[in-house]
Amino acid sequence: MRVAVIGAGVIGLSTAQSIYEHYHDKVSPLTIEVYADVFTPLTTSDGAAGLWQPYLYDKGNVQETKWNKETFDYLLSFLSSPESIKMGIFLQSGYNLCTTRGPDPSFKDTVLGFRELTQRELDIFPGYSFGWFNTALMVEGKTYLPWLMNWLSERGIKFYQRKINSFQELADSGADIIINCSGVRSGDLQPDPELTPARGQIIKVDAPWIKHWILTHSFTAEVYSKPYIIPGSRLVTVGGTFQRGNWSQQNSSIDHKKMWDEACKLEPSLKHARIVEVWTGLRPARNKVRLERETMRSGLNTFEVIHNYGHGGYGLTIHRGCAEEAARLVGEFLQQKGWLTKPKSRL
Ligand SMILES: Cc1cc2nc3c(=O)[nH]c(=O)nc-3n(C[C@H](O)[C@H](O)[C@H](O)COP(=O)(O)OP(=O)(O)OC[C@H]3O[C@@H](n4cnc5c(N)ncnc54)[C@H](O)[C@@H]3O)c2cc1C
Ligand SMILES: *[C@@H]1O[C@H](CO)[C@@H](O)[C@H](O)[C@H]1NC(C)=O
Ligand SMILES: *[C@@H]1O[C@H](CO)[C@@H](O)[C@H](O)[C@H]1NC(C)=O
Ligand SMILES: *[C@@H]1O[C@H](CO)[C@@H](O)[C@H](O)[C@H]1NC(C)=O
Repeated sequence: MRVAVIGAGVIGLSTAQSIYEHYHDKVSPLTIEVYADVFTPLTTSDGAAGLWQPYLYDKGNVQETKWNKETFDYLLSFLSSPESIKMGIFLQSGYNLCTTRGPDPSFKDTVLGFRELTQRELDIFPGYSFGWFNTALMVEGKTYLPWLMNWLSERGIKFYQRKINSFQELADSGADIIINCSGVRSGDLQPDPELTPARGQIIKVDAPWIKHWILTHSFTAEVYSKPYIIPGSRLVTVGGTFQRGNWSQQNSSIDHKKMWDEACKLEPSLKHARIVEVWTGLRPARNKVRLERETMRSGLNTFEVIHNYGHGGYGLTIHRGCAEEAARLVGEFLQQKGWLTKPKSRL
């Protein structure tokens, strides 16, 4: 069986990993290939800050809340291993700040030590009257993606750098299943009016004294359009913007100035931080993640496509839960085809 994964961001690579883990000893031969025109360190997943945090509210989408939690628990389980730092995973605590009281977020029982802020804590942040503190995880794409690629290469997964222009192209070359993890540009392959870019510009600075993340929220503005500060293992990410429908990956000096001024109000010591990098990425924004199977036809042949895209501003946060679900869908298909064998017993 040949599986072709389109996309080498966190979604494509982790989906390839889950498929390998579930089926390498049940289907023989199993070939997994990853096709992408952009690889680490140049994907959206590399530029992301890498904080594990979903949007505050799941709006009834309990399935995504479950995938988020599965991802958290999966990443947390690596903390007992020295491998964790090679994966870019570490614990970090911080503040969510609001200007008015809001209901508890859906991730409150997933993260560690979730609680409301005390008045003394709020006094540190003038202008904010409510919020929460918790410990979360970081999973930095710039470290995690190379780790995943290495994990996959060691197991014989092949990478091809090329742009895929249609699913047919892969089906015609013999792929039985195509996994579509193409992020914001998924719409090039099959139009999806629900998928839009949400432009995010950030500033990365050298400020090793900042140890906590600080996210600010307005219940009337777009998520992540208000200032946030997220320390990473080396640099601190300062944001942000969330501009729906804007495809521009140019850095804007207007956005830059506004973000920087607002962030310095929130954390005045940033004035002494050296700016190291400016970056703009496009979040694949959608009402909800598209994760489903579709049987497609090319001439007389049919082939299976599994879509896994539209992870918005929480791709690293949700990736493992989605990868496992995509692998389950692959299993459904294998079952239907009668391609699943029992693991080979050793003589
Ligand atoms: C400023 C910013 C900050 C963020 N911070 C966080 C954060 O702290 N935590 C968090 O969880 N999320 C964060 N995100 C969101 C996160 O970056 C995305 O949800 C995630 O990267 C999406 O992963 P992906 O694999 O779907 O897409 P990508 O990483 O964009 O990968 C897409 C892949 O598909 C390939 N591709 C697309 N079309 C084709 C084609 N036709 N042919 C071949 N290859 C193709 C590309 O080459 C690439 O390899 C942030 C995003 C931004 C912009
Ligand atoms: C892959 O998903 C994108 C959405 O991300 C969609 O637009 C595109 O058509 C899909 N490609 C294929 C080959 O299904
Ligand atoms: C997209 O964002 C850029 C940078 O902020 C800005 O210059 C441009 O006007 C925006 N385009 C649209 C269509 O909003
Ligand atoms: C944004 O700025 C950075 C410099 O910090 C640069 O490397 C990058 O190429 C710029 N992006 C664009 C599209 O100009």
